[in-house]
Amino acid sequence: MTENTPIAVVILAAGKGTRMKSDLPKVMHPIAGRPMINWLIETAEKLNPEKIIVVTAPDMDDVAKAVRPYQTVVQKQQRGTGDAVRPALDMLKGFQGKVLILLGDEPFLDKNILEKMIKWDGLSVMAVRPLSPAGLGRMVVHDDGTLDRIIEDKDCTPEQKEIRLCNAGNFCIPNAHLENWLAQLKTDNTQKEYYLTDIPQIAEKEGFLTYVVEADAQWVWGINTRSELAEHERMAQTMLRNKAMENGATLIDPNTVYLSADTKIGKDVVIEPNVYFGSGVSVGDHTVIHAFSHIEGAQIEANVEIGPFARIRPKSVLKQGAVVGNFIEVNRSVMGAGAKSKHLSYLGDAIIGDKANIGAGTVIANYDGFNKHTTTIGEKAFIGTNSTIVAPVEIGNGAMIAAGSTINKDIPDNAMAVGRARQKNYAGWATEYRKAKSGE
Ligand code: UD1
Ligand code: MG
Repeated sequence: MTENTPIAVVILAAGKGTRMKSDLPKVMHPIAGRPMINWLIETAEKLNPEKIIVVTAPDMDDVAKAVRPYQTVVQKQQRGTGDAVRPALDMLKGFQGKVLILLGDEPFLDKNILEKMIKWDGLSVMAVRPLSPAGLGRMVVHDDGTLDRIIEDKDCTPEQKEIRLCNAGNFCIPNAHLENWLAQLKTDNTQKEYYLTDIPQIAEKEGFLTYVVEADAQWVWGINTRSELAEHERMAQTMLRNKAMENGATLIDPNTVYLSADTKIGKDVVIEPNVYFGSGVSVGDHTVIHAFSHIEGAQIEANVEIGPFARIRPKSVLKQGAVVGNFIEVNRSVMGAGAKSKHLSYLGDAIIGDKANIGAGTVIANYDGFNKHTTTIGEKAFIGTNSTIVAPVEIGNGAMIAAGSTINKDIPDNAMAVGRARQKNYAGWATEYRKAKSGE
């Protein structure tokens, strides 16, 4: 066993991901709103590696962007997991430590298992015993438990397919030997690929044992298909819901609340069933989110009340004690402290002052077909029911708008604006009308 060995992590992410049937590189598919590769990088970072190098294919600029500040190297042709490590060798020149090679399609690796792998002298490989080993490399071990060899699923005989111990795909290899061993890989297999899984046999010939470190199959499962992606999403959601509850939030029916990897939820927050959090949401203490609300990219302060059936869109801020009720859409807008909009409104590009009251059916017409315009609504302003506010417009502090108004001019502080046709009453008209119609 060795302690404190310097570590470099190489993450293989150049594969085509054919089985996903997608235009998006496999490792960019999101789990709880975050690309799967970023989950893996987060775990790799916990090992304090000297470097993290990500191997991509030539047309994967989005992967390079997602993994910044870590560097990417390009594998020009996808000729197998063994070949994929080669482009990283330049960046590993002179590195005196071990290289942890991880597969980019296994986002939920356990840090403790990786640490165990690092501690062994020589090589180590991660193994799992899944319920169904289909598609995975099978592991043949010596009597002392060290690895004899790995046989890829497609190269297995029917008897070998019965082996339960499977290759999780992740290796820890001393850098001093890596280049030499990679150079000896051949493509004499069904897929005509350079298999990383052939390294242990090459190493054994040079007198190195490969240690097998078993991990929990639930957590180590390559994502090759959309179904496996959905399985991982389910696992991520369970983790995130549990974390939110541990931090003091009540989720009345946790299985119906969808969180993002970066969702921040304070204590004594109550979340009713069927609520969805997209990326970039923070929720302050004591806020209540009623059922069927959809929230993304929003900062929600303490003691806010949202929904049921509210949609809070990105770049929105709901300040302390704001209320956004049923069938309200808030988009790129600020709701001031204690401001209320309780029913059926669209609030877009608006800065709404503290304690303002937005009546039912208010629509802010923020778009003229070409540009978006801002509306400012002052503190304690009162917007009458069914008002249309045509932006850009400034509504003063304490101003009032009569119900049913269309407002396209600024309103001074404490003024009252009426923007509708005046009502006229015609005495007895209804009686005459009925008479004419029915002949009475
Ligand atoms: C691999 C292992 C298999 C193991 C399984 C566990 C090999 C040969 N097989 O199979 O033993 O049981 O993982 O999940 O290692 N990649 C590249 N360049 C390539 C090919 C692949 O970067 O040329 C990357 C992919 O982006 C992916 C990872 O390597 O992130 C694994 O590739 P994948 O094709 O999914 O391998 P599996 O068939 O799952
Ligand atoms: Mg895979």
